Amino acid sequence: MNTYIARNFKSLKIQLEKKNLIRKKIGLIPTMGSLHEGHLALIKKSKDLNCFTIVTIFLNPIQFNSKTDLIKYPIQEKEDIKLLKNNKVDLIYIPKLKDIYPKNYSTYLSENLYSNLLCGNKRKNHFSGVTTIVLKLFLLINPKVAFFGEKDFQQLVIIKKIIQDLNLNIKVVSVNTVRDQSGLALSSRNKLLSSKQLDIARKINYNLKKVNLYNGKDVTHLKNFLKKEMKKDGIINIEYLEVRSESELKKLKEYKNKDTRVFIAVNIGKVRLIDNLRWEKC
Ligand code: PAJ
Repeated sequence: MNTYIARNFKSLKIQLEKKNLIRKKIGLIPTMGSLHEGHLALIKKSKDLNCFTIVTIFLNPIQFNSKTDLIKYPIQEKEDIKLLKNNKVDLIYIPKLKDIYPKNYSTYLSENLYSNLLCGNKRKNHFSGVTTIVLKLFLLINPKVAFFGEKDFQQLVIIKKIIQDLNLNIKVVSVNTVRDQSGLALSSRNKLLSSKQLDIARKINYNLKKVNLYNGKDVTHLKNFLKKEMKKDGIINIEYLEVRSESELKKLKEYKNKDTRVFIAVNIGKVRLIDNLRWEKC
């Protein structure tokens, strides 16, 4: 089957009706474009589950808290479309800004339990921006399944929470973080790094993994240990390094069985990268 591209809500609706999708299982993968193997892993999962696979590409301005960050965000629409066609995506939705946020748009969703910590601590309206666009896409497309990456673990938790709170009949399927050979989590923002900065970025996961070599349970000691190790490799500007429970994102003082995850956000030059890893003790 050919890949169809809808560039506005009207043509998206026509396609959804034409294909009689009410009886089919729609799998939705929301993205901001500049696609890489991480995004493709979500698509593969959707195809594996026999979903009619819809990928959206929309650089959502309301989830950026800095204009320069938004302006710098890599865009490569042509390559993205080619990649999605090669991967036999059924429908691509690439709405225009005014299609999603028409003049005088003023309605926002806000989740208030998990949105103000980690990435939401310094970026005040970030997750309101994320949940607003994701809810809009859910309402426009009505998927049975939605796919999200563990790379953005907090985002995943928040999306699950809004689905639960709003009684949406959507199943969330999460996909493991896809990494390069060094362990660096693939990210559209990696394209903004110079080769020197990329070398430093490649040490983030390398050092984060030392958590599983750490011979202790105390979080403060672990954090000091990791920070020291990272510093040796030029990772100096750490926005946060936190240990939290996976299920509720509660701050932990000690390692807690399987429910323990380490979260990090790092600035390398002007590029902000995030990663997370389950703390597993033998
Ligand atoms: P974006 O960064 O484009 O990511 C789209 C989806 O791909 C998210 O679910 C993200 O977690 C997943 N993803 C990104 N890198 C990944 C990797 N290395 N491995 C596995 N999955 C990865 O996340 C967003 O866009 C936006 O916030 C969005 C949800 C689209 C709302 O605007």
